Amino acid sequence: MSVRSLLTTGLLATAALASPAGYGNTVTLTATKEVTKYSTLTVTKAASCSADPVSTSHSTSTSHSTSHSTSTSATHSSSAISTGSVGSSSASSSPTTTTTSASNTNPSTTILATATATGFGLNDAAKAAGKLWFGTAADIPGTGEPEDFYYMQEFNNTHDFGEATPANIMKFMFVEPEQGVFNFTGPQEFLDVAHATDKYVRCHNLIWKSELPTWVTAPAVPWTNATLSAVIYEHVYNIVEHFGDQCYSWDVVNEAFADSPAGSYDNSSIFYDVIGPAYVVEAFQAATDAVRNNSLSVKLFYNDYNIEYLGNKSSAAQALVSDLKARDIQIDGVGLESHFIVGETPSQASQEANMRAFTALGVNVAVTELDVRLPLPPTAADETQQVADYYSTVAACVAVDGCIGVTVWDFDDTYSWIPSTFAGQGYGDLFLQPGGANTPLVKKAAYDGCLEALTGAAESSP
Ligand code: XIL
Repeated sequence: MSVRSLLTTGLLATAALASPAGYGNTVTLTATKEVTKYSTLTVTKAASCSADPVSTSHSTSTSHSTSHSTSTSATHSSSAISTGSVGSSSASSSPTTTTTSASNTNPSTTILATATATGFGLNDAAKAAGKLWFGTAADIPGTGEPEDFYYMQEFNNTHDFGEATPANIMKFMFVEPEQGVFNFTGPQEFLDVAHATDKYVRCHNLIWKSELPTWVTAPAVPWTNATLSAVIYEHVYNIVEHFGDQCYSWDVVNEAFADSPAGSYDNSSIFYDVIGPAYVVEAFQAATDAVRNNSLSVKLFYNDYNIEYLGNKSSAAQALVSDLKARDIQIDGVGLESHFIVGETPSQASQEANMRAFTALGVNVAVTELDVRLPLPPTAADETQQVADYYSTVAACVAVDGCIGVTVWDFDDTYSWIPSTFAGQGYGDLFLQPGGANTPLVKKAAYDGCLEALTGAAESSP
């Protein structure tokens, strides 16, 4: 059985246990996760990148060694966590291992870790492939994440993450909780945390039907086209102007189109209800005015789901891009959310064709909210399929020049939005915490699927 098989069946996973000394000189520790319920088989996957396989001059996605994700070594039967020596003196040497003991808080799980001297990761690989980033959404300030040492350590790991998207804190209800009263404190905290590790930030989002304050959804005096248009303009203009180029981009309008009939405007939005389709144009006009009046560089994006493959909804988004351009309104890119269901992810070819349909219009695309959910508990077959689904999505972005990067919608199952949104589903992210919140993170096979896609390696057969 290959390591990949073990990974995808849940017998093995790689752990991202970095030095508590913190971010900056981190090493990635690869580990074996031995889940006792599966079998007595115990194998250690060593050195996920035993030596830096990509030179700093590497600029294509075609020649990267696959050894980082497939090498195996000794068989372990110990239940200790082994952590590697950390420090620049060992940075170019083969992995060395020292052993320390630590007990995992989950009695059914044992982690065996082997240190490597390099932290080559998803963001490193994305940049080597010519992308701007591999990134993640996060709730900071949030619901426990900032207090979770291990979560924050991985969030701060620039080898894996070079971009961050606020999952909630920049949404309308938080930024303008009362009309004309703006609260920039939480968003600024997010920006400061992300910028502390030099991340790009995709600011998200300005106008969406959800997470609105009640003063918008249930006004004391019913909105008219004019009064609600003024609300949009003030909200968008003030926020874009305030944060300026601290944001790499803004998702100006989120999810304006419906699934049924596909490509029609979503008429459950109060903005559509009162203003009609013009609300989208008005929001982009306000953002454009803020950018131009302040000579900003911030990019303006439209962001949606079920536009990751060709079809009526994607066509509607393409038509929106053309319409905004015809009006001389700024639109730089389209965000392809990519909240996929295991086994139902569009093929790589399908995603590539769709991306090219957008880039042909003169805009970039980005994979903005990638996760692949599956029914709980996970089966080996679903885990294997999940690797393929992550691979095809990331590989599509790698293959299309105008795709600037991939962002996952959080990286740790502990904080994923999936279980609370889709009953009975989960396991959608790249890491998990076997011991629960504030315990070490473990990489899933899906992580390796992403890394293989980014490095141009063929997906390992499970
Ligand atoms: C989600 C957040 O992750 C949840 O915490 C929140 O309760 C609802 O919104 N598409 C988007 C994101 O554009 O803003 C959504 O985020 C997920 C779907």
